[in-house]
This record gives sequence, C-alpha cells and structure tokens, in this order.
Amino acid sequence: MKPLVEPFGDGTVTLRLVEERDLRTILDWRNRDEARVWFKTSDKLSLDSHKRWYERYLAKDDDFFFLVEADGAPVGQCAIYDIDRIAKSAEIGRFLVAPDKAGNGYITRSCEELIRFGTRTLDLPYLFLEVMEENVRAIRVYEHCGFSEEGRSDGLIRMGLTRNDPR
Ligand SMILES: CC(C)(COP(=O)(O)OP(=O)(O)OC[C@H]1O[C@@H](n2cnc3c(N)ncnc32)[C@H](O)[C@@H]1OP(=O)(O)O)[C@@H](O)C(=O)NCCC(=O)NCCS
Repeated sequence: MKPLVEPFGDGTVTLRLVEERDLRTILDWRNRDEARVWFKTSDKLSLDSHKRWYERYLAKDDDFFFLVEADGAPVGQCAIYDIDRIAKSAEIGRFLVAPDKAGNGYITRSCEELIRFGTRTLDLPYLFLEVMEENVRAIRVYEHCGFSEEGRSDGLIRMGLTRNDPR
C-alpha cells in the first residue's frame, strides 16, 4: 500500500503524488515523439496500459511518482523508486516537462526537491539515475543538482549522488 506523502516544494514548484485524474495529462506529455525517445520504454503507451501500470504502482511502497505544479498548474513529473531501505538508496527519474513549460527551471527545482525528499525525509544518503548519453539537456539538469557520472554501458550513463549531511 502506498504511504501518504504530503505535498512539498520550494515556493515555486510543488510536488504532489500523481492521482488517477492526472493520468491522461501525463500520458499525453510522455507520448510526444520528442519526449518518449528518451525513455528506455520508448513506445507510445495506451491509456489502458498506463492505467494498469498505475494500479500496480499504487500497490508499491517503494515508488513515489510526483506531479510537479507551478502557480497551481501541472508543469512536469518526476519520481523516486526502487527505494532500498536496507542499502539506503533509491533511483530517481521519470523526469518530464510539460510541452509549453520547458526551460523555466521547473525540472531543476523538482530534482533538487526530490533529492531533499530522498536524502532527508526518506533518509537515503545515496541516489542514482540512468540517462541516455545523448540526452544533454537532462544530463545538465542532473549535473547542476550534484549528480556525477559513475559509469556507462549500452548508451546509458549511470550518475550518482551521495549526501551524508542532508541539507
Ligand atoms: C530533461 C527535461 C525534463 C528538462 O526540462 P527543462 O524544462 O528543460 O528543465 P529546466 O528548465 O529545469 O532546466 C533546463 C534549463 O533551464 C535553466 N534554468 C534553470 N533555472 C531556471 C530559471 N529559474 N529560469 C530560467 N531557466 C532556468 C537551466 O539552467 C537549464 O538551462 P540550460 O539549457 O542553459 O542548461 C526536458 O527536456 C524533457 O522533458 N525532456 C524529455 C524527457 C526526458 O529526457 N527526461 C529525462 C529522462 S532521463
């Protein structure tokens, strides 16, 4: 069962858990050609399969999927998942900006908030992510937030961040 997470943010962006009413919006973002090519599963998804994925997600306690809002409107999404409470680590990802909201710093801010949530609220000092090596825009966001490359294989870069003294 999914634990409740209260919305959090930095005054510009608010991250709140994705709800069923958001699924159509985020699917439309995700299915755009210029967005889906950057995900490991890059096929277009149907609303039915997206809803089935969401049902499975709701049953998990190691996966938190956030809608990002600014000025009360949806501007993007991001997630922290595969939370390992023994190893004290998690992966972050599913970053996506709404088509007309790119370049406003919303995703950089969301990444910073997600890092704070992971390291401070969930007490996970080590976070990592995977990104395609051609995805320079995403890589810049991650580097800006403190991630650094740990390795590469099959066109993917693994980046990690250790924060033993959570800010
Ligand atoms: C990757 C992605 C999420 C980044 O979204 P974005 O809206 O461009 O992200 P941001 O605006 O936060 O940051 C990008 C730029 O805005 C700049 N920025 C940061 N804060 C800013 C602010 N307050 N005002 C204006 N610009 C700002 C950043 O410095 C960066 O600028 P740069 O292009 O000079 O490097 C987006 O390109 C996307 O959805 N891509 C498709 C999906 C994808 O690749 N997801 C990641 C899979 S690993």
